[in-house]
Parts: sequence; structure tokens; C-alpha cells
Amino acid sequence: MSTQNAELDTSVSTSLRKIHELPGPLRLPLIGNLHQISPSTLHLTLEDWADQYGDIFRVYFGPRPHVVIAERETTQRILRDRPDGFRRTSILEKAATDLHLNGVFSREGELWRRHRAIVTKSLNRTKLKPLFPKLQMMVERLKRRWEHSSDQAQSVNVCSDLMRFTVDVTMQVAFGIDPNTQETEGPVIQRHLDKVFPIVHRRVYLPFPVWRYIRLPSDYALKSALKALREEVNGMVRAVRQRMEANPRLKDSPTNFLESILSEIDQGASDFSDDDVFANAGTLLLAGEDTTANTIAWCIHYLMRYPEHFHRMRSEVDEIAASNSAAILELEQTNRLPFLDAFVNEVMRLKPVAPFIAAESNTDTEILGCQIPKGTTIHMLTRKTAMKDSNFINADLFQPERWLNTEAQRYHPHERQAFIPFGSGPRLCPGRNLALFEIRMVLSMLCRNFDLDTIHGTGEVNERLAFTMMPENLTVNLRKRRSS
Ligand code: HEM
Repeated sequence: MSTQNAELDTSVSTSLRKIHELPGPLRLPLIGNLHQISPSTLHLTLEDWADQYGDIFRVYFGPRPHVVIAERETTQRILRDRPDGFRRTSILEKAATDLHLNGVFSREGELWRRHRAIVTKSLNRTKLKPLFPKLQMMVERLKRRWEHSSDQAQSVNVCSDLMRFTVDVTMQVAFGIDPNTQETEGPVIQRHLDKVFPIVHRRVYLPFPVWRYIRLPSDYALKSALKALREEVNGMVRAVRQRMEANPRLKDSPTNFLESILSEIDQGASDFSDDDVFANAGTLLLAGEDTTANTIAWCIHYLMRYPEHFHRMRSEVDEIAASNSAAILELEQTNRLPFLDAFVNEVMRLKPVAPFIAAESNTDTEILGCQIPKGTTIHMLTRKTAMKDSNFINADLFQPERWLNTEAQRYHPHERQAFIPFGSGPRLCPGRNLALFEIRMVLSMLCRNFDLDTIHGTGEVNERLAFTMMPENLTVNLRKRRSS
């Protein structure tokens, strides 16, 4: 048992509260609180209940109670005590296994460590740097796509355009393949990916794997989407294998995730199977698509709401770009945008695409004075924690400057440990460098090339959870930049 878990365990005693003694919403027999929960707004409901019941409460997803917490230190302790003391939920692993997608996100124990090592290596900064010119080209394509919309005076569905961009980037980085979905009209790989998250999201809150016994029409649609996805991934594997045959040096010095895992298999260095290849390729495509696209979309939403921040960001980008007056920044230039970074942090504090993280206890333990039996699901409301005044001054206000003003941070609460949009501990998001890099590139391109005064949102923008939290109804009118 790890030190962290020992720390949690020491006080397991009868004086602690039991889960059923925790406060929480009234429940019905058998279904518990399921009738009060909708998957697409689950995060909002849990956050409302945190206002009502405090930092720790219980919710019944069917007959079994889950524990919900909104407290910084305990959240950090749980996240850091993985994979030994806590794990991702077993129902997530069951759902992922049944979809043949049990890769690094849902795996546990030794297999998780091995998958994690190979994924992390292929996404680290040194692997990303040489890919910069290709990624720049992909940002250029997005610019052209938006210029075309501007020329046609058409509004832009930013989430869908950004997902084309993020899938192109992920496939380039993880597989060394450029699918160019941005310049492909009609159906693209995204139409298969789109089916997966919403269904996984619904399944992980079921009291048991109901889908194994009852099939809905959406389950059949998912099955055919997965079949098509598998064919796409098999095609990529064939292409990468051919590339490695033509250039055997790639076996010793792989340049991306697919080359790494295939060279381990081919050299007999590991027992990774074809299923492991598909599971992790699919995981990377899914993890890299919605998260980054939706984060950029939320940034655009806030740029529309706060034109003064847009102008400040534009001035910063213009100043950096002045040396070569390029429409798209160079790698080194993207690292010199403090206001843009502060703005993105503030967006991720208020609109994190993962507003909570779930874990399951591997042992009997204790959390915030409550006895937690092995196998209990714990939902950590990370956004709620980042929106407490005790962690960030004026926490419900959108203030990018809070991330710049180090003097103010000395006198007011500014708890960085309460800001964990990429998670924390050993399972911290391995794609965060890539994601931040994509976000900087797209936002700087947007400021440099499009006008804000003609960007108009349509309707109210709502939060919708489908594994990641996305802005619903975010349609934007982008116009080519006129002002200097
Ligand atoms: C703004 C964009 C992104 C956000 C906000 C985000 C957020 C997260 C969060 C909250 C987790 C869970 C961390 C934890 O449990 O402590 C996670 C895990 C993960 N993310 Fe990301 N992510 C983003 C982009 C990406 C990208 C671009 C990739 C790869 C292409 C990626 C790959 C993964 C993987 C593989 C995991 C599972 C790690 C593990 O369980 O060991 N993510 N991400």
C-alpha cells in the first residue's frame, strides 16, 4: 500500500460516518437518485447538490451509493494515490473492454503502466517539436476554412471545424498520418468517433452493465461505427508497417505512438496484441479530439463575451508576430504569450471540459471523516473546487489577470492545486503539452486573421456533458480581419 493510502487508512474506525449517514438528495427504492439525473447535465446537478449538502455527500446511482466530494486536498490525495489506492471505475473498464477500447485511459495496474509509458513517450515535447511545420500547415488549413466561411458570409460551427482540426493533429502526432479531414467534404472519421463518447458516458452511470443484456438502436449504431473505426485503424497500421519496412531505422527510433507499439510487437519485446494497438489508437483519437476542440470553442465563447480581452490578446499576438509579420506564429513565438495563456487558464477554470473526475477505492479507506468501503465510486467535483472563494479570490468572476498578477496572488487566495483541468498525479493527462500547443496556435491565428467586432453568437450557449463538457449552440460569424 502506498504512503498516501496509508495516510487515508489510519483513521478508519467506527467513529467515522458511514456513507448512508452522509447528507444527500432524497432517493427512491432501487433507482436511488437516477430519476433526478440526466447524463448531459449531470455535472450541474452534482454541483448544485454540493451547494446544498457541502464538501462531501452521497448520491445513489441505482441501489449503490456513490460519494461526491468538492475539496481540494482530498481530491489531490486521491488522484495521486493511483493506481494503488484508487483506480478509474470498474464500470468504465467494462464499458471500454466491451468496445475493444480498453487502452491507457481505462486500464489498471501493470498493463496501465506499460500502455502509459509508450503513450507518454510519444507525446512528449521532444517528439512534438519536429512536427511543428506539419501542425502549422494544419492551422493554415483551418484559417482557409474559416476564410472561406467569411467569403461566403456563412456562420461557422466552431466545434465541428475544430474537431476536424484536432483529429488531423492527433493522427499526425500519434500515427504519422495526415488524413486532411479539414479539406475533405462530407463524412470523415469523426462521424464514427462521435458515436463513442456519448454512449460510454451513458453506460458509466448505469448500476450494472445493462448493455450486455438489453440492446438499444444506438448500441447497434455504435457497433457499426466501431467496425468502421477498426477498419480505419487497420488501414493506418498497414500504412505504418509499410513505412517501417521501407525505413527500418524507424524500428529503433520510432517517431510516434503507432511506430513505437508496432516496433515493440515486431521485435517480440512485448506481448501487446492487435487489440491493444486498436484500443490505444482509439483512445488517443477520442482523448485528443473533443477535449482540445471543446476547450478552444469555450475560449472563443469567452472572446465573444469579452471584446476587451480579445483586443488585449490580439495586441500581444501582433507584437510577437511583428518581426516576421506572419499570419501564423512560429513555435518559439507561441511560448511568449502570457496574456493568452492566462486567458486560457481562466477559461479552463470556469469551463473545464472535464468538470469532475471519477475514481474507485481499491481498499477500505477514509475520506473526509467517512468510512469508504473498497469498490466505492467517488466523484471529485474539480470545477466546483476551483470556483470556491477560499481557493481563488472572486472565484465566480472571469478574470484572466488573476494568472498574471503575482503581487495580488501573495495577498489573496490563489491555490494552483485547486486548478487541475488536466487531472493530477500519475494519471495526469499525457496530451496536455500537445493540447496547449494546439490551443495557442489556433487562438493566435484567430486573433491575427479574424475580426471580433463581427463575431456574433447565436442563442444562449449551454453546457452539455457527453463525457467531455461542450458548448451547445455555439455558432459564430467569423469575418476576415479588416482593422490593422
Ligand atoms: C484541453 C485538452 C485536454 C484536456 C482538458 C484533457 C484533460 C484530461 C483529464 C482531466 C484527464 C484525466 C486525468 C486524471 O485522471 O488525473 C485526461 C487523461 C488523458 N488524456 Fe487528456 N486532456 C486534453 C487533451 C488530450 C490530448 C490532446 C490527448 C492525446 C492526444 C490526451 C490524452 C489523454 C490520455 C491518454 C489520458 C489518460 C491518461 C491515463 O489514464 O494515464 N488528452 N485528460
